[in-house]
Amino acid sequence: MITNDIKYVGVNDHEIDLFEGQYIVPNGMAYNSYVILDEKIAVMDSVDEKFGTEWLANIEKVVEGRTPDYLIVQHMEPDHSANIRLFTEKYPEATVVGNMQTFRMMDQFYQVDENVKRQIVKNGEELNLGKHVLSFVFAPMVHWPEVMMTYDQTDKVFFSADAFGKFGALDVQEDWACEARRYYIGIVGKYGAQVQNLLKQVAELNIQVICPLHGPILSENLEYYLDKYQIWSSYGVESEGVLIAYTSVYGNTKKAVELLAKKLEEKGCPKVVVADLAREDMAECVEDGFRYGKIVLATTTYNGEIFPFMKTFIDCLVERNYQNKTIGLIENGTWAPTANKIMLGMFEKCKNIDFLNTSVTIKSALSDDSMEAIEKMAEELMAK
Ligand code: FEO
Repeated sequence: MITNDIKYVGVNDHEIDLFEGQYIVPNGMAYNSYVILDEKIAVMDSVDEKFGTEWLANIEKVVEGRTPDYLIVQHMEPDHSANIRLFTEKYPEATVVGNMQTFRMMDQFYQVDENVKRQIVKNGEELNLGKHVLSFVFAPMVHWPEVMMTYDQTDKVFFSADAFGKFGALDVQEDWACEARRYYIGIVGKYGAQVQNLLKQVAELNIQVICPLHGPILSENLEYYLDKYQIWSSYGVESEGVLIAYTSVYGNTKKAVELLAKKLEEKGCPKVVVADLAREDMAECVEDGFRYGKIVLATTTYNGEIFPFMKTFIDCLVERNYQNKTIGLIENGTWAPTANKIMLGMFEKCKNIDFLNTSVTIKSALSDDSMEAIEKMAEELMAK
């Protein structure tokens, strides 16, 4: 129960291997759905395809013999929309509520029966359920174009679609920020401007409870979550420290990275995170790339390019609108080291990137010269 009239009817998924086809979710995933009980009954979103029967049974339990009047579709990504058809077959009298784009996508994905009642709403429009008045807050590109969120003016509950969601099923206890950050940066990270726009709208509302489509219902200390979203969407520095992301073929680049980490720690750097891009979860590394204000990238020249995992890592940063950071570069090459130049070029279109004056070139293995350059790099990072 979320309030007297709002009930949870979502499901936990522990069968999933990769969320959205790419993110590992060791603690599973929750697909949240809610029922608002009033003179009219509204169901907020459906759940992933595999859980249609469980979801309908959850709804049946809370409506106690009544029939839902509305299915409000806030987001058309299939983890939330896959059972729309099942719902309309079970409750043919119900009206599906969405916007123009929602229904366009619904027809593309599911070819919903043309006899199903559709109510097309506009941004700011209200829907009266009796005691509860809902208003729709459009949030285009957070992170799909049709996304809309819903504010229950009566209970002061904000149904936030994917925003404020996280990886992880609800029957597993874990820290919110870690998996919410990995989720946000991975899935929504590119759309900081749109999230900023949403936050401005949210600031106008008196919100007591946030009901996202993934992760726990948030009812305490909402400032904490709003503050995280403010930092993430403005590409701000969330934690002081340095991320050193590297690839290493024979261990020589790794030795350089370990030396830099040691020097930073000796100089009192508040946090040094070292990430082996070939072995660690890429989404976790990308998340840290956004979390810290300073990053060092260390890789080898490879096939006239850079080592594949570093290439992927930088692509993941750049395509998410990477900005406002300080970057240091370390390259290793035995005959024609060009990795630093290539890495620098990959950030060409990023805004507010400050490259360190010191870059490091290793020829095969650490030498006195390269060790000296690492010392200089550590000093420069500390001075920034
Ligand atoms: Fe949870 Fe964007 O789907």
